[in-house]
Amino acid sequence: MKNDYLCGKFFNYTLMQEKIIILDFGSQTTQLIGRRVRELNMYCEIVPYNKFPHDDPSVIGVILSGSPFSVYDEKAFKTDLSKIRGRLPILGICYGAQFISYTNGGTVEPAPSREYGRAILAKVDECSPLMKGIEAGSTVWMSHGDTITSLPAGFTPIASTDKVAIAAYQSDNEPIWGVQFHPEVYHSQDGTKLLKNFVVDICGGKQDWSAASFIESTVKELREQLGDDKVVLGLSGGVDSSVAAVLLNKAIGSNLTCIFVDHGMLRKNEFVDVLNDYKCLGLNVIGVDASQKFFSELAGVTEPERKRKIIGKGFIDVFDEEAHKIKDVKWLAQGTIYPDCIESLSITGTTIKSHHNVGGLPEKMNLKLCEPLRLLFKDEVRAVGRELGMPDHLIKRHPFPGPGLAVRILGDITPEKVAVLQEADHIFIQGLRDWGLYDQVWQAGVILLPVQSVGVMGDERTYERAVALRAVTSTDAMTADWAHLPYDFMAKVSNDIINHVRGVNRVCYDISSKPPATIEWE
Ligand code: XMP
Repeated sequence: MKNDYLCGKFFNYTLMQEKIIILDFGSQTTQLIGRRVRELNMYCEIVPYNKFPHDDPSVIGVILSGSPFSVYDEKAFKTDLSKIRGRLPILGICYGAQFISYTNGGTVEPAPSREYGRAILAKVDECSPLMKGIEAGSTVWMSHGDTITSLPAGFTPIASTDKVAIAAYQSDNEPIWGVQFHPEVYHSQDGTKLLKNFVVDICGGKQDWSAASFIESTVKELREQLGDDKVVLGLSGGVDSSVAAVLLNKAIGSNLTCIFVDHGMLRKNEFVDVLNDYKCLGLNVIGVDASQKFFSELAGVTEPERKRKIIGKGFIDVFDEEAHKIKDVKWLAQGTIYPDCIESLSITGTTIKSHHNVGGLPEKMNLKLCEPLRLLFKDEVRAVGRELGMPDHLIKRHPFPGPGLAVRILGDITPEKVAVLQEADHIFIQGLRDWGLYDQVWQAGVILLPVQSVGVMGDERTYERAVALRAVTSTDAMTADWAHLPYDFMAKVSNDIINHVRGVNRVCYDISSKPPATIEWE
């Protein structure tokens, strides 16, 4: 899904949920503000800087995010706060704080030196409700090129650092606050306290947002919205589509039909195991083994994007064909989650995500779209899954690319290569589980390299394939570091692969971080 702030258009249940609105001016940390507010059990929504929902009576406070622009740039994002001011508490963060100050007659100037990273609060006005419980000496995270050099009349500084005289301010007459630093960044020591002071003490938030309350309200709304309509959902084995399915199943039971397509590029035993899991969860699921179709369409194809396109299109064809066998389907459900919807940077013209497993389906099938998780962050999706009673091994599954092992076999794909890779991958993943390392890693897998190398087994010289192990730590897949796995574990996995997987005589470990590498090799 592309930049789609309209994700909420199919349901309006959140209208009744007390919420904080975050106006997105294009900062890379806007999503993080959302996450931190949600961690306070306070519901919030991120909307573009100029799309404040004036007709929503349940908004109790507003946060203005940072921005890549300077307030005096011609292209800087500007918004009209006149209808919000005085009515709702406002907190400006970084650019947000500068914007409020600048548009009210304060001065914002380029700082003598750009300031990125840690800073220490030197003075704090603890009488300010925003700074309650935050003391001088507290570490904050700065990331700015401009600085507020004078405040408008009626505004007072409430914190400073050695370099920044106005690190935070408040209005004397209106519920308006601003901070130059980023409380949402985890390195800001009292960031949570500051956000809580705003959200709970200043805005009066009840902190009633939880997985349980989300399930209760969503199930109710899904029932109202869908009535007796039939819904189809494509399962991938991943967390998002699985949780979406279980939630919908709770709401509409057998009116939901799930389709799980085996394109032949899944992990060893995955199709059978996951299908079984789904059945145990009471889902009405159809498993379609379409592997032969995919193998023949992929034969001889080496170019990664071609592989992706063939699999994407093949998936849509199979799904469409199966869905047409069900009578009177009106809705297509997807496990789209909040980060897929926000794509916050796209308001500055940068596209962040291009992967979407079932892109193209809604258009082709002419169905209405139902995305019950579209307002949740990944960790919240897991919490909902847990609350719904789903087993840990489904909820904690590593992300796995839609085209599966096809993008982990460099070069052309054959059933024989898939079988070799499945065996090696199985040893690695099972090993991570057995050694208690699986949950410490964001994602792991094995890559089959288009390389053969000389080896010796017994008295014989061999000339066989090399595989690369890849395991990374990450919080969102946007950046990643290679996982520092124990040497003993690596030695065991390497031995097991070479001894048990016929056709492989060399194992390497990929120690590249993202950026500049990516997680997948293709
Ligand atoms: P990269 O390789 O871009 O991967 O660092 C980031 C995350 O996206 C996954 N990935 C994909 N997921 N279809 C998907 O559904 C794809 O074509 C695809 N390519 C990469 C990757 O596994 C990682 O989690």
